[in-house]
Amino acid sequence: MNKTAMYYGALIAVVILALIISSDLNKVPDLHPQFADYVTKAIMTTTGPNTFGQNLQVLHGIASRNQLLNVMRGFQEALGVKCEFCHNTNDFASDEKPQKRMARLMITMVRNIDTNYLNAPGLEKVTCFTCHRGQAIPKLVAER
Ligand code: HEC
Ligand code: HEC
Repeated sequence: MNKTAMYYGALIAVVILALIISSDLNKVPDLHPQFADYVTKAIMTTTGPNTFGQNLQVLHGIASRNQLLNVMRGFQEALGVKCEFCHNTNDFASDEKPQKRMARLMITMVRNIDTNYLNAPGLEKVTCFTCHRGQAIPKLVAER
């Protein structure tokens, strides 16, 4: 192999790798119906420092990319939206979208309800899905 061929080979490999990584992040995951509930329940009462993420202000105890992505997929499913609803997908740490800032408020609210009001043994926890049920804006009144 000559130098030019090696150069183009390496370039193509980098492009393919970048495509794989970005499609992995943006891919709509194949989820079980209870997944959102399970993930949000598991994370909402978690405490401890994050060892992953650059701008995690309200989620606690996130230790890996996979753990974070599972929580994010839980949000996606609960609200029936994709990543870009809350994120600039070129910079997930950015807070430029109001939906992301609203989601932070919601996480804090859910945690407050779960730890201060539903903390007795045998009580089910509230999750994003409890209100949202697959919609970005939950139904606020009964339909007639
Ligand atoms: C309902 C809104 C919402 C959706 C949908 C959502 N996210 Fe997030 N995401 C957040 C919030 C809020 C944070 C910050 C949490 C915090 O401050 O602790 C966050 C943080 C992140 C971070 C960490 C960035 C950093 O380093 O600080 C990544 C990565 C991320 N999300 C990826 C995704 C991906 C991938 C998807 C789609 C599968 C997704 N998110 C869907 C709200 C959302
Ligand atoms: C107690 C019920 C309740 C729970 C639980 C709840 N939400 Fe909400 N959420 C609402 C209501 C009501 C609105 C609409 C507020 C408005 O804009 O008038 C809303 C709006 C939002 C919005 C803004 C949507 C838009 O299009 O502007 C986001 C994002 C959001 N919620 C994320 C979440 C996430 C993430 C969770 C779980 C951590 C969550 N919510 C849990 C009631 C809830």
